Amino acid sequence: MEVPLNLKNTENARRAAPNMKCLADFLVEKEIGEGSFSTVYHGREKEGEKREIALKVCLKKLILKNKMVTYIHREKEALALLSREENAHPGVVTLFATFQDAESLYFVLSYAKYGDLVSLIQKQPDSKLKVGDARYYGANLLSALEHIHKLGIIHRDVKADNLLVKHDGRILLTDFGSSKFLKDYEKDTNSNEETQPTQRRRSFVGTAFFVTPELLTGSDMSPASDLWSFSVTLYFFLTGNFPFEDISEYLVFKRIQDVLYRFSDDFPDENARDLIEKMLVKEQKDRLTSDQMKHHKFFESMDFENLQEIEPPRIY
Ligand code: ADE
Repeated sequence: MEVPLNLKNTENARRAAPNMKCLADFLVEKEIGEGSFSTVYHGREKEGEKREIALKVCLKKLILKNKMVTYIHREKEALALLSREENAHPGVVTLFATFQDAESLYFVLSYAKYGDLVSLIQKQPDSKLKVGDARYYGANLLSALEHIHKLGIIHRDVKADNLLVKHDGRILLTDFGSSKFLKDYEKDTNSNEETQPTQRRRSFVGTAFFVTPELLTGSDMSPASDLWSFSVTLYFFLTGNFPFEDISEYLVFKRIQDVLYRFSDDFPDENARDLIEKMLVKEQKDRLTSDQMKHHKFFESMDFENLQEIEPPRIY
């Protein structure tokens, strides 16, 4: 797809500080994705390692118009923490640099050649994954979630759309715009309502099928919330469907609040079913922890200490 003139014409880019990156440091090749207030381009560093990159360009006027300032801050803060050398995880996207000009904010991210996992799953026979492939992606997602939780971050928008597949078939968790630092929950609880919206008044962020009961009731979210969405994602991997589906968002939410879902007779794996049943539980404290999930029978064949040594599926 076409690259707009202002991104091609990189000679006009100005460096704000001597060691700061700017648009002129990158070759922008083509558009690879579009959101409501950002566009992602494939590009390459001009100097040094000449790494391939994904350049996410967020238009300032759209961010302001859509009141997405907090969203952008959260994404930057979470990614900056997760991209420090000592916090790096192979299953989490890396933020190499951020910079801005008069019109836009730029995020320079690690590039994932094969795009998002939903698009790839939709191209598979019956639009679903084989059990072994679902186990591989599930284990890698779980490892990434356990890592971010240890660093005090909840993702809050875990879904296959936010899993990207790299050139080598390994996955990256991306899109930290809805994320929250666990310490912020403590702040929210201690502050008065004038300065901080309460959890109860927090508006819906995310995608209906993956929403948790706690988000709908206005209770605090926790790492267990990401593990609920993980289980919805695992159900999707194995069936191509979602556990909570209905004709309207309202009815999907009602099903989620009542934890009303079923497994079809041809659901492909008893252990996966047992794991999902133990996770799609209304009370966060009654769900398995990530450590208990790793020890569940469904993941028995997965060596979580050496996931990088496992050959990834070739679904692309
Ligand atoms: N789309 C959004 N982020 C991306 C990335 N890091 N790599 C490839 N495609 C993307």
